[in-house]
Amino acid sequence: MIRCEELVKIYKTADLEVVALQGLDMQVNDGELMAIIGNSGSGKSTLLNMLGGLDKPSAGKLFVDGKDLLSFGEKELVNYKRETVGFVWQNNARNLIPYLTALENVELPVLLKGRRCRARAIELLEAVGLGHRFKNKLSELSGGEQQRVAIAIALANEPRLLLADEPTGSLDTKTSDQVLDLFRTLNQTMGITIVIVTHDPLLARKVDRVVQIRDGKTSAEMIRRESYADELARLDAEDAMSGQQESHIEYAVLDKAGRLQIPAGYLDADGFKDSNKVRVEMEEGRIILYPQEMMP
Ligand SMILES: Nc1ncnc2c1ncn2[C@@H]1O[C@H](COP(=O)(O)OP(=O)(O)OP(=O)(O)O)[C@@H](O)[C@H]1O
Ligand SMILES: [Mg+2]
Repeated sequence: MIRCEELVKIYKTADLEVVALQGLDMQVNDGELMAIIGNSGSGKSTLLNMLGGLDKPSAGKLFVDGKDLLSFGEKELVNYKRETVGFVWQNNARNLIPYLTALENVELPVLLKGRRCRARAIELLEAVGLGHRFKNKLSELSGGEQQRVAIAIALANEPRLLLADEPTGSLDTKTSDQVLDLFRTLNQTMGITIVIVTHDPLLARKVDRVVQIRDGKTSAEMIRRESYADELARLDAEDAMSGQQESHIEYAVLDKAGRLQIPAGYLDADGFKDSNKVRVEMEEGRIILYPQEMMP
């Protein structure tokens, strides 16, 4: 569904240039539900904006659903945003119109698509579990319910790809869990590919694959040992003790040129701190890094 190769984004402002993405590689399969994590400023929103066609990469390759986004003209970009992607933001002021009801909010994008709208809008609100609240104004709904309205809107154009930037950022843990459950249900029932950007490692742990971005590059991938559904079933069967076990295996990401980011902290060890050179040796099928030998 998504293929980014050596993706670069440079923001130019009056007096400086910020390199927000510096050669990022990432692939997402059709039908996947995955998360992107990373520190503030690491380039997560920048990446999501490129994927959503809201901004253009400076260099690299970007394919979504088989389409080459870098080759798009204005018209193709509008069609892409209208037909292929849906977007959910953390701050639902960007998604919603406060003085309209839930139903009117969802009707609007359906209307723009030119479909018979009321029935479809009700269908979408039912899909996000809000069938009973559609007459309420936004101000009469809780934060989690408002976010579900936002998700219904993002689904209005029947996108193949749903992008969510910190969708649970302003929700408490319990409500975040419910929103994540909703994403999981939509992913399973509609087969829609979902990419969630989050700060929250606990939330990220509940999806099967997590990609970590550091300084505008993918640095690691965490892949589940067993699917989340299987784990829940197992935990139900056993008692809570085994919940302590780490659920994901962490991999560092090796790029095509053979570069790799060593996980933060590893290089604090003695011998690695004092030099920017390491000796790389192949021993019995393993690649081993040794600190540079210091001259006596
Ligand atoms: N429009 C812009 N103009 C100039 N610089 C920008 C712009 N948008 C983002 N940046 C810079 O690009 C870098 C990446 O920003 P980005 O918003 O992608 O980070 P992020 O990972 O989403 O962070 P957060 O977790 O805080 O949302 C930052 O250094 C940021 O200051
Ligand atoms: Mg961001």
